[in-house]
Order: sequence, then structure tokens, then C-alpha cells
Amino acid sequence: MDLKSVIRTIPDYPKKGIMFRDITTLLTDARGFRRAVDELVQPLAGQKIDKVAGIEARGFILGGAIAHQLSVGFVPIRKKGKLPYKTIAESYELEYGVDEVEIHVDAVEKGDRILLVDDLIATGGTAGAAIKLLERAGGEVMLCSFVVDLPDLGGADKLRALGKKVTALVEYEGE
Ligand code: PRP
Ligand code: MG
Repeated sequence: MDLKSVIRTIPDYPKKGIMFRDITTLLTDARGFRRAVDELVQPLAGQKIDKVAGIEARGFILGGAIAHQLSVGFVPIRKKGKLPYKTIAESYELEYGVDEVEIHVDAVEKGDRILLVDDLIATGGTAGAAIKLLERAGGEVMLCSFVVDLPDLGGADKLRALGKKVTALVEYEGE
């Protein structure tokens, strides 16, 4: 099945000129959701993983399903101010201004081999901050998995330049 056929594009959302790649239609489609989860873990090819970390908000849905499939724990990476216990934070640049992601201080154990999951990578700002955070906490990010890559924005290449393995199921380039 072609995963692009279950991803919906909404022009000019959230603002003019942006083509929003909406994966909620993939999630609603039982075969699409199953296929995406299976394909996102494929590059691990039997490698041992200790935890899955998912980035708020859509990375929670995919990451939770993947953690269940791999029978490992799940680490939520949240936007600033959402986690109740002590946190560590990492900030990243947005088009205008900065944002911050956080994890609980005890979410990662030293030496944990982590699969990082999100719905989409664009500039790589969010995923880059997530990697820093997980590795500051003592983990090692073994693979970064995304459903959608927007290669024009260079995020996946940025992560690869940091020595990270990156996989994305579909790309939208120049469209
Ligand atoms: C979107 C998307 C990724 C991030 C990718 O999330 O879900 O998490 O942007 O962009 P980047 O590679 O340029 O950092 P968004 O920040 O819109 O928040 P949400 O997932 O909570 O809606
Ligand atoms: Mg997001």
C-alpha cells in the first residue's frame, strides 16, 4: 500500500503558503497505521532497543504503538511546562522565536538504547533538541523514525550529519 494515499494535504494551514501533511487520516486507516508502525521499526532489524521516545503530540500515538509492539517502555517528550515532576529541558529555534522540549529527569537510564519517533521532520529543530535531551540524560539514540520527511528543509540531513540513523516512510520534495 502507498502510505501517501492515506496522508492528507491541507494547503495554507496553519498559515498561507504551508502545505500541511496531515497524518490523522493514516491513523484512522487500520492498514495504514499498522503498515506505518511496521515500517518505522524495520531499520532496527533485530537490534536491541530499551525505550521508545515520542515527541508531542503526534509522536505519542506512533511511539506508543511502536513501544507496545517492541515490548519496551515509552518516554514522552513534551513541550515546556506539561510534565509534573522534575524535568530537564532543551530549547530549539522556531521560524520566529524559540521553543523548549522536556523529559522527566528519571525517564532515561544511563546506557538506554532509544528509538526516537515523530510524525514529521522539517527543519529538524525539534528532533535535534530531543536527541540532545535524551543523550544528556545518558541515553543513546539508535534510530530516528518519521512518517514524513520534508527534505527541502534539511532536517533529516542535519541529524545524519550528527551521526544519527534516520528513516522516513514518505518524502514530499518540491511539492
Ligand atoms: C510539528 C511536527 C514535528 C515538528 C517538525 O510539530 O509534528 O514535531 O513540527 O518540525 P521541525 O523539524 O522543523 O522541528 P509542531 O511543533 O507543529 O507541534 P505538535 O506536534 O504538537 O502539533
Ligand atoms: Mg510535532
